[in-house]
Amino acid sequence: MPDNQRVARSLQLYQRAEALIPGRTQLISRRSSQFAHGNSPIYAVRAKDARFIDVDENEYLDWVNAVGAIILGHSDPIVDSAVKEQIDRGSIFTLNSALEIELAELLNAVIPSAEMARYTKGGGEANAVAARIARGATGRNLILFSGYHGWHDWYQSANYLVDPASGEFPFAGIEPIGVPPELAGTALPFTWGDLGGLRDLLHAHEGDVAAIMMEPMRTELPPPGYLEGVQQLARTHGAVLIFDEVSCGFRPRVGGVQAYLGVKPDMTVLAKAMSNGYPMGAVVGSRAVMEPASRMFISSSYWSDNLGLAASLTTIRELERRDSAQRFEAIGKALIKHLNHALREAGLAGACGGVFWNPVIQLDLPDESLRAAANTLFIQEMARRGIHCNMSFKATLAHSQADIEWTATCAAEVFSLIQAGLASGDLLALLESDLTKEPFRRLVR
Ligand SMILES: Cc1ncc(COP(=O)(O)O)c(C=O)c1O
Repeated sequence: MPDNQRVARSLQLYQRAEALIPGRTQLISRRSSQFAHGNSPIYAVRAKDARFIDVDENEYLDWVNAVGAIILGHSDPIVDSAVKEQIDRGSIFTLNSALEIELAELLNAVIPSAEMARYTKGGGEANAVAARIARGATGRNLILFSGYHGWHDWYQSANYLVDPASGEFPFAGIEPIGVPPELAGTALPFTWGDLGGLRDLLHAHEGDVAAIMMEPMRTELPPPGYLEGVQQLARTHGAVLIFDEVSCGFRPRVGGVQAYLGVKPDMTVLAKAMSNGYPMGAVVGSRAVMEPASRMFISSSYWSDNLGLAASLTTIRELERRDSAQRFEAIGKALIKHLNHALREAGLAGACGGVFWNPVIQLDLPDESLRAAANTLFIQEMARRGIHCNMSFKATLAHSQADIEWTATCAAEVFSLIQAGLASGDLLALLESDLTKEPFRRLVR
């Protein structure tokens, strides 16, 4: 069957969405252009453990897992029971819920930098809260950042700093329209891994920097001493050090990258995996940095929602009970080993590397201009074999050894196909999808 038949309902819905939803999706990473449009599934109807079913009733092994938000597995029975029981008691009260205090105590116990907590419903708004608190606590305005921190004005204003034609746009393809240009220069990017560059920025803006906001890492370990150096610079310059652990948190250790690498920021931003897919975000930090927030206007009705609190309490306890750190290490290392074996078997140059909680396939191509085609072909052919992935992988505790081995078996076939396409000089002839697009460049590896 031609594959646009296999995902026909997905494609029809996507077409309907065009007239009704600007941009078609709510999250850029869910756009079909991020995968192999024409072959990748776009709409799902249900999900369980490591798999989901799309609207065309195809089953997929899922290596995307709601962009990392699913950590125990889809529809985890224990988290879902806790949420259902909470629905029966009340999803949101007129009064406050003691669950807020219980979760703050649990976060204090597991996240090294946590002494006080505020909640949100997502990662971007948690970052905006962290930026507000850091500015309010220091009386300074400037934020130096490295990484992706969401959609809010404080951060997206950095788009104005670069001429789009230069190709150095921090968030390529996304226009800053709608963000007041007057905010340009209130948040400045720095390059992850370059301590000297950060030091120069701090000197150039001596006394103005409220916060150094960064993803401590994504797929590569930081250079030795780098995060310690950033911590020291923040202290020397009186800036609040904020780790955005929305994407890297919970998998390496329940306490996040800061627990894994032993570097403690002043404040930490959490979301996604903290609640196994239920809307939840948090800003935690030292008492000194967080306490001034009591005098700031940081307030929203649904931040008191009980379902996210119940989901988060249960998810974090389950991660600990299920020995998550050790298991993610085993899953990630096995996936890296098997995918590297598949590359060798196919005779395709490249490697699966990265850290165990975020393995990444990097193909060595004769020409960089072939990358979009090679990556799209990989995504397309894995989708046809019932595996939903892109070039990086986010596991859940529901992924089994058999899932890993099957992924590698399919990948070996697909790598052989890519190798044949490269050898014949006509990779594009194998493509039956639109080329995958890079939506924005993150300033951290
Ligand atoms: C590091 C990081 N910060 C913030 C966000 C934004 O979180 P949300 O999409 O929940 O607003 C993301 C989402 O991908 C992220 O990866």
